[in-house]
Amino acid sequence: MLANCSTWREMPSDDEGTIDPAQLTLRPFSASDDAEVTSWFPDAGALRFFAGRRLTWPLDSEQWASIRADPATRAWTAVLGDDPTPVGHAEMVDEPGGLVQFTLLAIAPSLRGQHLGKEVVGQMVEKAREGGYRLVYLFVHPDNATAIRGYRSHGFEPAEELDSAHGLRLELRLGGA
Ligand SMILES: CC(C)(COP(=O)(O)OP(=O)(O)OC[C@H]1O[C@@H](n2cnc3c(N)ncnc32)[C@H](O)[C@@H]1OP(=O)(O)O)[C@@H](O)C(=O)NCCC(=O)NCCS
Repeated sequence: MLANCSTWREMPSDDEGTIDPAQLTLRPFSASDDAEVTSWFPDAGALRFFAGRRLTWPLDSEQWASIRADPATRAWTAVLGDDPTPVGHAEMVDEPGGLVQFTLLAIAPSLRGQHLGKEVVGQMVEKAREGGYRLVYLFVHPDNATAIRGYRSHGFEPAEELDSAHGLRLELRLGGA
């Protein structure tokens, strides 16, 4: 498990033992990741903060399987270096009109606050850019300062209206077709 100290030491790091975000890559989310990613959300509140209404408590493999089966959704697992252990999860959903929504984003609890979330957002934006999308948008809980800061550092701006049902809407224009 990720919180295990020996696993921590195996993570790619610099001489001071901190994680290097440059080691992070995204690979397709697979069924073998389900248990680890599920373990990051210990209760209904944590899941709601992460996923809004997209996932329901209790989280199970059926919900992850339906995300993988959805042709409009692309889901990734973040890993560090050669270690296959998931350290992050991210998803985007294709929408009409050149839009794409970033729907889920999470970093393993023991690794938060080390700029991995910011790195995942950057790589997701790059994927959206390569996909030719015109605009990326997402909803975030207005109290989720870490997530909002990570998105804003990549150029996301709050949309003018607060959607009270979904939270704060952030947008990034990519200039695609
Ligand atoms: C939100 C989440 C993905 C961010 O990932 P992370 O790796 O912890 O965040 P980062 O280390 O990349 O930090 C991003 C920015 O927030 C800042 N930050 C970190 N903790 C913070 C806090 N408690 N308050 C405000 N800013 C904070 C960081 O310093 C960084 O800004 P900087 O580059 O200017 O220094 C992660 O915390 C998480 O998985 N949370 C639970 C699930 C969730 O809320 N998902 C988002 C749904 S939209």
